[in-house]
Amino acid sequence: MTFSRLFIVVIFLFSITGISGLANVSNAASSHKGKLQPEKDYHSFANTDEVILTHIDLDLAVDFDKKQMRGHAVMSLKYLTDKAETLVLDTRALNIEKVEVRKKTEAKQGKWKKAKFLLRKADPALGSALAIALKDGVDEVKVHYSTSPEASGLQWLTPAQTAGKKHPFLFSQAQAIHARSFIPLQDTPQVRVTYNATIRTPKALRAVMSAENDPEAERNGVYTFKMPQAIPSYLIAIAVGDLEFKAMGKRTGVYAEAEILNAAAAEFADTESMLEETEKKFGPYSWGRYDLLILPPSFPFGGMENPRLSFITPTVIAGDKSLVALIAHELAHSWSGNTVTNATWRDLWLNEGFTTYLTYRIMEIIYGERRFKMESVLGYQDLEAAVASVKEDDQRLAVDVRGRDPDDAFSNIPYEKGSLLLTEIEHKIGREAFDEFLKTYFAKYQFQSLHTEEFLDYLNTHLIKRYPDKLSLDRVKQWVYESGFPADAPKPQSDAFTIIEDKRERWLAGGLIARKIRHGEWTVHEWLFFLNNLPEQLSASQMAELDRVFELTESKNNEIAHSWLLIAIRNDYQPAYPRLEKYLVEIGRRKLITPLYDALMKTKKGAVFAKRVYKKARPGYHPLAQGTMDKIVYPEGK
Ligand code: BES
Ligand code: ZN
Repeated sequence: MTFSRLFIVVIFLFSITGISGLANVSNAASSHKGKLQPEKDYHSFANTDEVILTHIDLDLAVDFDKKQMRGHAVMSLKYLTDKAETLVLDTRALNIEKVEVRKKTEAKQGKWKKAKFLLRKADPALGSALAIALKDGVDEVKVHYSTSPEASGLQWLTPAQTAGKKHPFLFSQAQAIHARSFIPLQDTPQVRVTYNATIRTPKALRAVMSAENDPEAERNGVYTFKMPQAIPSYLIAIAVGDLEFKAMGKRTGVYAEAEILNAAAAEFADTESMLEETEKKFGPYSWGRYDLLILPPSFPFGGMENPRLSFITPTVIAGDKSLVALIAHELAHSWSGNTVTNATWRDLWLNEGFTTYLTYRIMEIIYGERRFKMESVLGYQDLEAAVASVKEDDQRLAVDVRGRDPDDAFSNIPYEKGSLLLTEIEHKIGREAFDEFLKTYFAKYQFQSLHTEEFLDYLNTHLIKRYPDKLSLDRVKQWVYESGFPADAPKPQSDAFTIIEDKRERWLAGGLIARKIRHGEWTVHEWLFFLNNLPEQLSASQMAELDRVFELTESKNNEIAHSWLLIAIRNDYQPAYPRLEKYLVEIGRRKLITPLYDALMKTKKGAVFAKRVYKKARPGYHPLAQGTMDKIVYPEGK
């Protein structure tokens, strides 16, 4: 574009908004030069130093034909300075129709008045800043908008992608920076809002949200919600589908399609005791009810800790409670994450590392030490694998995610390395003292967000200084700021696994036939340990023997199937390929499919298979999963 054409466009933009101030919205959010400021959220355009949102009222209609939510959001403002003339919100691919503002007069609300606004050019990672002119200290802003069918935070499913096959399904996934693709807001975990919502859906469907849900609500196409506790934007969530409810305990229940409702309620029947036990150890549960929503298999995560209503993949319904650590994990976020929240995406480990640590602890209380030890060893092996594969800079706990989608740095590091650091502290000062510390920490920062350095300060004052002969700040800093993890870190051990190891070695050496390996019934964890630690290359007869004796290709357990399919790919074991194809088409959970595509793409033959299957599977994947798989399957670009 020539300079003069650019000039004309700029003048045009100024004249439609009528104010030049709006064009000056800082682009600093995406800048990643210079010294990092730990308190700054580099993933939001919002001017939160001037004005913050305190409450949002949503009124949205869900249109499955257009794959669009349309309506308005009313935001209540709190001014931090009297100079604020602009409100900057985060948006991504939203169509903004109209903006209005109003000011409360003495006792009553004023009239809505049209306000000027400007939608800036989109940044590929962050979306577009929406600048709204604020006049005379208005205290409410109403944005009329609609979402785009490609909204990164929504997945629109066809009836064929659901269990019932009759009705469509919609769900949101806002973490980390996708709330802005379905609500214009200050999309940063440093701001907390309460919200109310009216959601309009086709009459046959039910809407649920991360809020107070009424399972008795009549199916009439209009549902109202209230979230009375202030939450960060990444925890706002909605789903719409042919959903039924079943109670599991006094405070716990499950929403799912009728076809899987009973299986889900049985699988997750221990949720109520998990809730009670976690409260006993780490302080009261702050959110009223704790329900689960079981999504269709394209849900890109295992789970998402949306407050009061965790979103859960159906791939963990194994029939034997073997994969319910996922529920302990999402529940634990009710303390670490949802009440005490990471201030920026650099601090994700404060959410995930603490939650992973709590998960192990909850699993031990509910299922005993043997399982706790096995799950700890598997987690440690995940950490070793992450250290071997994640690039060095991203192996720090506090990872520099400036200038990119935080999703691009996502790995097991914040989870397992964060948890191992807490385990080390626990071992040094004793469990009782550490539990007391955690309980106080959760209470002290309840409903607040904090960044890594604030946490280190707190830890130093409340723990390190109390145990100067056992803990040192330098050691903790090594964990937080350096890659890898200390060589003398705690290393979990499991006697159950030692036995498996011995059998595996004897089988590999030819001293034991597969039919004799199984000693009683192995648990899923023992199977995973056996499979995950086989050498990369096995002979064709070894592959055939394992499959013949243990029927691994037909395993109903999605984690075991995942481990086996990975081995099958590495060894070009063709009898497993029809199952592999089915698995990749039916499941959209990133953790389960990414390693399979990765492994396939390592050989020419595998790449041909991956490309063919991906073509078929891609339309059913969530936008996030599509993004991840696109990069793997089409490394040279599409
Ligand atoms: N909050 C995460 C999922 C998440 C993290 C979404 C970062 C977007 C950005 C959730 O609690 C989680 O950790 N899920 C895991 C569960 C597992 C570790 C038990 C998953 O989905 O695999
Ligand atoms: Zn988590």
